Amino acid sequence: MQQPNPQQPAVFIETFGCQMNVLDTELVAGQLRGLGYRFTDRWQDADVVLYNTCSVREHAEQKVWSRVGILGDYKRDTRPDLVLGVIGCMAERDGTDLVRKHPQVDLMCGPSELDKVPLLIDNVLRTRVNDRGGLRSAQVALQGDNQRRASTLQAARDSLEMIDLARSFSPERDGHSAYVRITRGCNKYCTYCVVPFTRGQEVHRPPQAILDEVRKLVDAGAVEVTLLGQTVNHYHYDNAAAVTVEGVTQPQVGSVIAPNRGTGGPSPVFADDVTSFAQLLRLIHDNVPELQRLRFVTSFPRDFGDDILETIRDCPRICRYLHLPVQSGSDAQLKAMNRGYTIDQYRDLLQRARRIIPDVEIATDIITGFCGETEDDHWKTVDLLRTADFKNSFIFKYSPRPGTVAYDRLEDDVPDDIKKRRNRELLEAQAEASQRVHARYVGKTVSVFVEGASRKEIKKQNQVELGWESDTSTATRQVTQLSGRTGGDLIVLFDGDEALTGTVVNVDIQRATTLSLFGTLAETIA
Ligand code: 5AD
Repeated sequence: MQQPNPQQPAVFIETFGCQMNVLDTELVAGQLRGLGYRFTDRWQDADVVLYNTCSVREHAEQKVWSRVGILGDYKRDTRPDLVLGVIGCMAERDGTDLVRKHPQVDLMCGPSELDKVPLLIDNVLRTRVNDRGGLRSAQVALQGDNQRRASTLQAARDSLEMIDLARSFSPERDGHSAYVRITRGCNKYCTYCVVPFTRGQEVHRPPQAILDEVRKLVDAGAVEVTLLGQTVNHYHYDNAAAVTVEGVTQPQVGSVIAPNRGTGGPSPVFADDVTSFAQLLRLIHDNVPELQRLRFVTSFPRDFGDDILETIRDCPRICRYLHLPVQSGSDAQLKAMNRGYTIDQYRDLLQRARRIIPDVEIATDIITGFCGETEDDHWKTVDLLRTADFKNSFIFKYSPRPGTVAYDRLEDDVPDDIKKRRNRELLEAQAEASQRVHARYVGKTVSVFVEGASRKEIKKQNQVELGWESDTSTATRQVTQLSGRTGGDLIVLFDGDEALTGTVVNVDIQRATTLSLFGTLAETIA
């Protein structure tokens, strides 16, 4: 890899939204670093500012617009040579209109085209000499454009591999936990959701490429790997060679999954030469024995078969954690959302999961105030949170997204004050449930992957540095409040040496709150 070159521009990247974006940022940064670009933590010191954006909810988009506004003024008044780029889902969704609305944006790149970011930056720098007012030609790479050129799934696959393969990982810089993409895009078309339009159709990576990447990460020092996809349990890869039709590589047909069977039944049945998600998990678990923790997000609560649950049960280094977004406790709402399952089927999946993996912890996502949601629908969701034993819920107020079915065909008819009240009632129900789930751990010993100093500790140390607190012990003190996670993804806080960061330790739990567990380092070794 090239050393940072003081001649090269300094880059600042800010990430909005999901874990997928965190990985995308890491991959883009890796590419730029490989070309000798420098990085900075302050936009004020940067020559290139990139916003890696999320379109899932309006709130996230508004934050980006406010940033673009601030940077636009700064650029106009102080740094006309600053390169400003919007990458990720907002670029894809708003397309070239965005540049018309925000002429200060120099480049835009959709989430499927991120391997082109270095080229786009380079183009901006080269063409800027000709840029004398008038219509500026922003540099643009969007899947929409690309699809018109070569609309094959294989093309999407190839570009997916390009960026994921070019990865460099360093625990000193990236921590000991790494993300690995297994699937990109989504074919579910839930009526509220923008993802199929921004990230495109579902494309799965070859199992060998995933395995190689996990091995590389572990060799480089990763202790925990999280597999990423919008619907990881749909992962399936046809190992038969792709066929060529008139010189264009096409996805292999014939490996089509069996018809959907709701949540109750097994995973879809595949042809012999297809790798399923359960098989992928086992492949990684068995072939990378040095990997201490293997996790995955997010699962879709349909087509989640016992084969996956049994694989988790049988593989001790796979985390006992499922993120299973339910979205609503009401069948009428699930139908309006096009989720493809009923609450009974969802509850059946929870039961199967807990029967097969007794120590599993489950988290969920909820959308409150979706189109047509009645009080009755809402209380069904509250009831679900009271009774389903979720360790936590991510609760979102519905925000209509242009381009989705709900935006075009359903009325956003729940007033905002009602959305707010329902949101609060759901949070209260979940807080009680979280407290109950956490309390079960008091008196037990859990294994914890140590992530580093806790937020409280970091705040305290900053205050000492700024002289707000007279603490004479920082130089001598080795005990720090550390934060880590159990295999079930519960947050654990305990005192220890910061050198434990990136290791897995045992902690005796003494106290539980709605948000975390508190304990002390156990005598036993994890
Ligand atoms: N409004 C509110 N929440 C949404 N989510 C997805 N789309 C929307 C929307 N339009 C939530 C869902 C999903 C999570 C990532 O974001 O709960 O699981």
